[in-house]
Amino acid sequence: MTAHEPLKFAYWVPNVSGGLVTSAIEQRTDWGYDYNKRLARLAEDNGFEYALSQVRYIASYGAAYQHESTSFSLALLLATERLKAIAAVHPGLWQPGVLAKLVATADHLSGGRAAVNVVSGWFKDEFTKLGEPWLEHDERYRRSEEFIRVLREIWTSDHAEFNGDFYRLHDFDLKPKPLDVPGRPHPEIFQGGNSTAARRNGGRVSDWYFSNGKDYDGFTEQVDEVNGYAVDAGRAGAVRFGLNAFLIARDSEREARETLREIIAKADVDAVEGFRSAVQQAGASTGDKRGMWADSSFDDLVQYNDGFRSQLIGTPEQIADRAIEYKRRGANLLLLGFLHYHEEVEYFGHHVIPIIREKEAEQAAREDPLVAAR
Ligand SMILES: Cc1cc2nc3c(=O)[nH]c(=O)nc-3n(C[C@H](O)[C@H](O)[C@H](O)COP(=O)(O)O)c2cc1C
Repeated sequence: MTAHEPLKFAYWVPNVSGGLVTSAIEQRTDWGYDYNKRLARLAEDNGFEYALSQVRYIASYGAAYQHESTSFSLALLLATERLKAIAAVHPGLWQPGVLAKLVATADHLSGGRAAVNVVSGWFKDEFTKLGEPWLEHDERYRRSEEFIRVLREIWTSDHAEFNGDFYRLHDFDLKPKPLDVPGRPHPEIFQGGNSTAARRNGGRVSDWYFSNGKDYDGFTEQVDEVNGYAVDAGRAGAVRFGLNAFLIARDSEREARETLREIIAKADVDAVEGFRSAVQQAGASTGDKRGMWADSSFDDLVQYNDGFRSQLIGTPEQIADRAIEYKRRGANLLLLGFLHYHEEVEYFGHHVIPIIREKEAEQAAREDPLVAAR
């Protein structure tokens, strides 16, 4: 990955009801398949490389209905030609060998476009209502690290072996293996969070580290720390970074700001407060008190992944400037949510991405005059 590689874009698949903000503002977004199929096609035609399906098993503070992430991702893969689908999965609810098999099949059915986001979980009820134990925060991450190691071992070895505290493999040979795709040793493995445990896993085992919405310094701090863990693990430079943002691009800054103001003014206060108490208990449960959401304000939590904090809010030019700055600070990908998906994914593709590409070309030319001469 070089600084000259174009910034990539992913979108949050609205596979749960209620949209991406916990607000009564109008959201022209639908969690059903027909809407999502059209969205996926629009996205791949408008510069998006990835679609991230969320995993949620029960309603919580909105999201009354939820489509399952791996099956929904597969459906989107079959409805598209180039888009890569990332399915969020919980260690603790999946046996990793079964998931490895499912993803290998999805990879064959889609020409090598399957990926996973290993989420360690914040929602205790989801586990306890299914009768599964809810591990302490850092134990969840220790299990996730093993889970990722097991996936990689199964996908790459003909005699997969693993002897861990949570999982074991004995001379397991997955057939077929995932497709052999240039530039990718196996389906990509994403993982995210904010706590020390999440960052450590990012550096030690993930292909991609997802950051929640962050300002510039908050993002830089994570990139530096995750890269440090990667160096310690002998994986210098191996981790790529995605940053979450709720994007509001409008013709004028005033319109964009007004939309943000209305989202927050119409927030579902009970739902946001309920979410705040659940996740801050989950985040604060880390010894160092810096789990995701530990310092989020009410306004931040109206977008449940702190998406306003990245401030991709304004005119296309303003957003492109911030995107370039995040890229300079190590972002390889922006993970985006929108209020009105169909319309805004197209608007982003038509009005924002071209400016980002112009700025990338200018930057490349400044850094390498030979490029300018070409
Ligand atoms: C980009 C991103 C996507 C996530 N998607 C999900 C999801 O679909 N389902 C879920 O239960 N948790 C999801 N999480 C939450 C993580 O599993 C984890 O609980 C959270 O990041 C708390 O992290 P921390 O305590 O390590 O800071 C996501 C986190 C990030 C950053």
